[in-house]
Amino acid sequence: MKGGVFSLLCGTLLLAQDAIAHPPVPSPRGVLRRDGSASYACKCYPGDDCWPDNAQFQKLNTTVGGNLHVNIPPGAPCYNTFQGPLGDVNTYNEAECQKVTTNWNDEQFQIELPAAGLWTYFTNDTCRPTTNPTDTCTLGYYPALVIMAKTVDHIQAGINFARDNNLRLIIRNTGHDFLGRSVGWGSLVINTHSFQDIKFSNSWRGACDYNGSAVTVGAGVQAFQVLKQANAMTPPKIMVTGECATVGVAGGLVQGGGHGPLTNFYGFLADTALEFKVITADGVLKTANAKTNADLFWALRGGGPAAFAVIVEATYKTFDDKPSAGLNLDIDLTHTTNATLFWEAVRVFHGYSTHFVDNGLYVYYELGTTGQNLHVHPFVGIGKTPAELQAVVQPLFDDLDRLGIRYTTAAAAGFDTFYDLYQAMFETEGAGNSALTGGWTIGRRDVEENHPAIIEAFQTVLGAGSFVIGHMWSAGHGLPKKQWASSAVNPRFRNVVDKLITIVPVAGNAPLSDKAAAQDKLTNVVDAALRDAAPNGCAYINEADPYEPNWQEAFWGTNYPELLKIRKKYDPNGVFYAVSTPGTEKWEQIETGTRLCLKL
Ligand SMILES: Cc1cc2nc3c(=O)[nH]c(=O)nc-3n(C[C@H](O)[C@H](O)[C@H](O)COP(=O)(O)OP(=O)(O)OC[C@H]3O[C@@H](n4cnc5c(N)ncnc54)[C@H](O)[C@@H]3O)c2cc1C
Ligand SMILES: *[C@@H]1O[C@H](CO)[C@@H](O)[C@H](O)[C@H]1NC(C)=O
Ligand SMILES: *[C@@H]1O[C@H](CO)[C@@H](O)[C@H](O)[C@H]1NC(C)=O
Ligand SMILES: *[C@@H]1O[C@H](CO)[C@@H](O)[C@H](O)[C@H]1NC(C)=O
Ligand SMILES: *[C@@H]1O[C@H](CO)[C@@H](O)[C@H](O)[C@H]1NC(C)=O
Repeated sequence: MKGGVFSLLCGTLLLAQDAIAHPPVPSPRGVLRRDGSASYACKCYPGDDCWPDNAQFQKLNTTVGGNLHVNIPPGAPCYNTFQGPLGDVNTYNEAECQKVTTNWNDEQFQIELPAAGLWTYFTNDTCRPTTNPTDTCTLGYYPALVIMAKTVDHIQAGINFARDNNLRLIIRNTGHDFLGRSVGWGSLVINTHSFQDIKFSNSWRGACDYNGSAVTVGAGVQAFQVLKQANAMTPPKIMVTGECATVGVAGGLVQGGGHGPLTNFYGFLADTALEFKVITADGVLKTANAKTNADLFWALRGGGPAAFAVIVEATYKTFDDKPSAGLNLDIDLTHTTNATLFWEAVRVFHGYSTHFVDNGLYVYYELGTTGQNLHVHPFVGIGKTPAELQAVVQPLFDDLDRLGIRYTTAAAAGFDTFYDLYQAMFETEGAGNSALTGGWTIGRRDVEENHPAIIEAFQTVLGAGSFVIGHMWSAGHGLPKKQWASSAVNPRFRNVVDKLITIVPVAGNAPLSDKAAAQDKLTNVVDAALRDAAPNGCAYINEADPYEPNWQEAFWGTNYPELLKIRKKYDPNGVFYAVSTPGTEKWEQIETGTRLCLKL
C-alpha cells in the first residue's frame, strides 16, 4: 500500500492496517482429485469422507435456529422424486407444481426462493417444471444446503461451518447474478433475504467529512423497496441503484460497482457508499468505512462480489430527487426492412453517445432483441424539462429524417421526480431464462476515433445470434475527479460512454458440446468483436463473460494488484469464491463445473 488510494478518502493518510489480528484459520488439506494431468485440492462435497456427519449438521441447525434446510430445486414439486446428493426425496405436489410452473418467469417469485438462480443456465436446468412427473430431477448446479439466515449470528455460524469443514460457500441475495455466482454445485448457501431493515438519516455522522442525508439498508433490501420509501420523504429522496428495480442494493450490486440512471451525477452505487457492516472469513463482524478497515471498505466498493466479506448492512448517500423527462424511440422491421438503412440508423444513434452523456442523459437501449430492431426505452433527462430533453435528442431525429429513416417516438414526457419516471417508463424484466451473458464498455475515445468499427462489431454480434443491451452513461461526468479513486472499480469506467451487455441464448440442458460452443462464441466472436473495436473500454464484473480473457486487467485495470493484496489479507484461504474475482487465479470448477478446487 503506497497510501495513494486511501489518502484521497478523508484527506488523511490512511495506511492499510497490516497488523489486524487474525484468529488462526484452520486450512484443511482438501479432497485430492485429478483431472487430466493436473492435481487439485477440492472443497468437501456429499459423499466425501470429510463431508460433515448428521450430528454436525444438526448442531449447525441448532446454532442457526432451525433455519438450515436441504435444498430442493424449485421445479422438484413437478417430479415424483428429487434424486438429491443427500438421498432421494419424494417431491411431487400438484398445487406446488402448478405454482412454480405459472411463476417460473416471475422475477420476484424466483428471488424469494431459497437458492434459485434467475439465469437458469448456471443451475444446469436439470429440474425444470414439467408435466411428466416420472422425468428425472437432479441437483444440477444447485446448492446442497441452505441457511435462511435471520440474524448476524446465523451468518457467522454459516461462514465458520463452511470454513472449518472446507465446504463450498455461496452467499445468495436475490439470485440475479448473470455469471452464476449465486449458485454452485453441492454448496452451502447463506441466504440474506431476511435482512430487510431500511433506516434514513438526514445528517449522517459517520467516519468521514460527509454530513448529508443517507440510508442504511440490510443485506436483503431490493431497489424498489428503498426507492419507494425514499420517495415518500419530504423532500423526496433518491439513491443510486441499477435500472432493474428488483436487484439488491447491498449485495452483488455494490461489490461489482452498481451503475444506473443516476450514474452521470453520482458515479457508481459504490461511489456513494459511506459504511459497511461485514463479516469476514474469520467469522468476525467488522465495520468498514473510510477510517476503520479502510482497505476493506475500498475493496467492497466495486472490487468484486463475494470476494472480501459478507455484507450485513450498507449505508449510502441519498440525494434530493429532481423533475425529470423521458423519451422513447423504436426502429424495427415495421419501419424498414432495408438492412443498410437500419444500420445507418444505428450508426447515427450511437454516434451521439458522447453527446448524450455530456448532456447528462442516461440512455437504455436494446439492439437486435427481435432481429433487426433498435429499442431505446428510454432516454432519461434527470433535472431536465421535456423541452430540454427534446432539444438534446433533436440532432438525432434531424439526422434520421435527413436519411429518410422512419421511426416511432412520442413527445418527451415530464415527471415531478425521477422516481415517477422510473415507475412509468422502465420496462420490467423476466426470470427463468437460460443464456450466457457477456459484455464490454466503449470509451469516449473509441467513439471519437473508431466509430465505424464499433458499428461493424455490433453487426458481428447480431450476426452471431446474440443481441445487445446498452446503457449510455459516464461514471466520471458529475463525480468530482478527486473522488474517482475512492472506489475499486476499473479507473477506465470514468471515460466510458456506453456499457454493453451481450446475450448468447443457450439451453441450460443443452449437450456439453453445445454449451462449449456457446461459451466459445461469447468469448471469441461476440465479445471479441467489441473488445477489438473499443480498446479504451473495459469490462464490468457484474455483467460480463465469466471467462473474460485477462479478467484482472479487464475488470479492474490498475487497481488489481491492490485488490489482490486485500483479498490475501482478509480471505487468505479462499473461504469465499466467485469466478474471476481477485485472488481466484488457482481456483477452478473441475469435473464439468461441479467441484471447486485449488490447482496444485
Ligand atoms: C435484469 C437485470 C438487470 C440488471 N441491471 C443492472 C444495472 O442496471 N446496473 C448494474 O450495475 N447491474 C445490473 N444488473 C447486474 C447486477 O448488478 C448483478 O446481477 C448483481 O450481482 C446482483 O446482485 P444481488 O445481490 O441482487 O444478486 P445475487 O445473485 O444474489 O448475488 C450476486 C453476487 O453477489 C454476492 N453477494 C450477494 N449478497 C452478498 C452479500 N451480502 N455479501 C457478499 N456477497 C454477496 C453473491 O454471492 C454473488 O456472487 C442487472 C441484472 C439483471 C438480472
Ligand atoms: C433444521 O431444523 C428445523 C426445525 O427443527 C427442521 O425443520 C429442519 O428440517 C432441520 N434441517 C435439517 C437439514 O435437518
Ligand atoms: C449438466 O448438464 C450437462 C448437459 O448439458 C450434463 O452432461 C451434465 O451431466 C450435467 N451436470 C450436472 C451436475 O447436472
Ligand atoms: C455539514 O458540513 C458542512 C461543510 O462541511 C457545514 O458547513 C455544515 O454546517 C455541516 N452541517 C451540519 C448539520 O453539521
Ligand atoms: C437500402 O437503403 C440504401 C441506403 O439508403 C439504399 O442505397 C438502397 O438502395 C436500399 N435498398 C433497397 C433494396 O431499397
